[in-house]
Amino acid sequence: MKKILVTGALGQIGSELIVKLRNLYGENNVIATDIRKNDSVAALSGPFKLLDVADGEKMFQLAKQNQVDAIIHLAAMLSAVAEKKPLAAWHLNMGGLINALETAKELGIQLFAPSSIGSFGPTTPKDKAPQDTIQRPTSMYGVNKVAGELLCDYYFARFGVDTRGVRFPGLISYVTPPGGGTTDYAVEIYYDAVEKGRYQSFINKGTYMDMMFMPDALEAVVQLMEADPAKLQHRNAYNITAMSLEPEEIATEIRKHIPSFVLDYQVDPARQAIADSWPNSIDDSAAREEWGFRPQYNLEKMTADMLEKIREKAKV
Ligand SMILES: NC(=O)c1ccc[n+]([C@@H]2O[C@H](COP(=O)([O-])OP(=O)(O)OC[C@H]3O[C@@H](n4cnc5c(N)ncnc54)[C@H](O)[C@@H]3O)[C@@H](O)[C@H]2O)c1
Repeated sequence: MKKILVTGALGQIGSELIVKLRNLYGENNVIATDIRKNDSVAALSGPFKLLDVADGEKMFQLAKQNQVDAIIHLAAMLSAVAEKKPLAAWHLNMGGLINALETAKELGIQLFAPSSIGSFGPTTPKDKAPQDTIQRPTSMYGVNKVAGELLCDYYFARFGVDTRGVRFPGLISYVTPPGGGTTDYAVEIYYDAVEKGRYQSFINKGTYMDMMFMPDALEAVVQLMEADPAKLQHRNAYNITAMSLEPEEIATEIRKHIPSFVLDYQVDPARQAIADSWPNSIDDSAAREEWGFRPQYNLEKMTADMLEKIREKAKV
């Protein structure tokens, strides 16, 4: 990658990815776009343009005028919100992706499009869900993600578009709050631990889902986009993960830093149903073998960092 356009750049992932990409590729070589603008570092530290991904013509023109060689397409509606507004989710998640694919096709450029552990469903093997397995998701978000994975494969096979992507697990971070996913509890728990000393989880104890600390997710995007294409047998929708966690395990780790921390539960049936339909863990050996993916953070290291950074933020 030399010059990159990022959609949905002010969300949980984009707000940190933009900073990393500008450090790696140069401030002016990373065009951040989103449907809204704010005063975040991502919006102010380099070129920023308003872009609704539903507007395919504007996406194409922005990519062309700026002579980008890659699009990182992050604009989407996440799992819990999508379940409340399924039709709007379909339009945003599928409409945005097809516009990004068409732009990449017309300009002959690379495209990163993320999928999710939400692309799996209740008939997927629960433990160490394989790279290639049954995908019959029961949420609108999951349906969008499976369709998106297939579209990315199709655009590569049919038109030679250099599409690449991963299935992100739940991402844990402290810069920008998550945008309405099922794993958001694993971010909220750290904020509430620091600010209130207790947390009420909307996901029940014993519910395992895969998670990853944001620095590993950002590294995965760059590594995959820069990987030798000859080695990419799967190319799209690589399973990646760093840890499989349930709420009590995070609480136990937090108590090593805040011994009085209290975790209780008020389970949200809608989000619990989504979580129950996803695997407990996924197998990321294809990503490890084909492009050398190796996460650096485990629960212990991530928890220490999350608590330290949230404490610093709380002081400001
Ligand atoms: N965060 C996670 O834990 C996670 C896990 C798995 C997959 N993913 C995937 O990664 C991608 C990015 O996720 P995120 O967590 O950064 O999402 P987010 O909800 O935090 O951010 C999405 C961004 O898209 C923008 N947006 C919304 N509608 C738009 C439109 N019509 N046009 C342009 N921008 C629009 C929003 O303003 C927001 O800044 C999504 O495809 C998501 O499904 C995320």
